[in-house]
Amino acid sequence: MTMQRGRFAGQDRDAVYRAIADRRDVRRGFLADPLPNELLNRLLAAAHSAPSVGLMQPTRFVVIRDLTVRQAVHAAFLEANEQALASYTGERRDQYSSLKLEGILEAPQNLCILSDPHSARGHKLGRQTMPETAIYSTVCAIQNLWLAARVEGVGVGWVSILHPARLREILHIPAAVIPVAYLCLGYVENFGSEPELERFGWERRVPLQSVVYYDCYRDAHAEEQEP
Ligand SMILES: Cc1cc2nc3c(=O)[nH]c(=O)nc-3n(C[C@H](O)[C@H](O)[C@H](O)COP(=O)(O)O)c2cc1C
Repeated sequence: MTMQRGRFAGQDRDAVYRAIADRRDVRRGFLADPLPNELLNRLLAAAHSAPSVGLMQPTRFVVIRDLTVRQAVHAAFLEANEQALASYTGERRDQYSSLKLEGILEAPQNLCILSDPHSARGHKLGRQTMPETAIYSTVCAIQNLWLAARVEGVGVGWVSILHPARLREILHIPAAVIPVAYLCLGYVENFGSEPELERFGWERRVPLQSVVYYDCYRDAHAEEQEP
């Protein structure tokens, strides 16, 4: 059999799939040691090398180590989380209030990832029909960082329970730039073998075959959609 050109050899290939399978959203168990600059730069470089529409590279990074800044973001989280809790009733509400949904103060560094969708870079290639692809490009960068962090033993937790307007105030983000992700980052002792939300009974993963269609979309689960 001829070797396919460009294909990774066995162990290298397995390592990529393992990083994908073993990546977790981490909200607890962060160690106090800050990440060395070299390591943080490797993670940022992984993010920065992500694909981007028209090669516009719209992603911007704010590294946050200052405790007072993290405390301000944490206060914003508590406020938003209180509002989120109020939208649930009964058992769901009890369950929601028992979840740990951020590690802003425990993780020694936080990272706000932004997108500058009006950057002239890329000369609008691909964005004339789909302007939102600038933000999609930033999401690709986030995923690269998340996977690179996993292989470095660094936990990453994404916190979206924040009003973007509060983040803008705290981090001085101009109106034209979009806050896409607020991440908590740090060394962790171990990674869970399954998503925490699954472990605590909030939601379960669906099997791949239930979301793959061939030749056209067939919405077999339309009745399950939220209004
Ligand atoms: C866009 C996005 C926003 C998220 N926001 C939060 C959040 O605010 N709080 C939280 O605890 N987890 C958050 N998560 C993590 C998800 O809950 C997690 O990815 C999912 O439960 C699957 O678990 P896993 O990442 O460990 O596989 C977010 C994930 C994504 C992709």
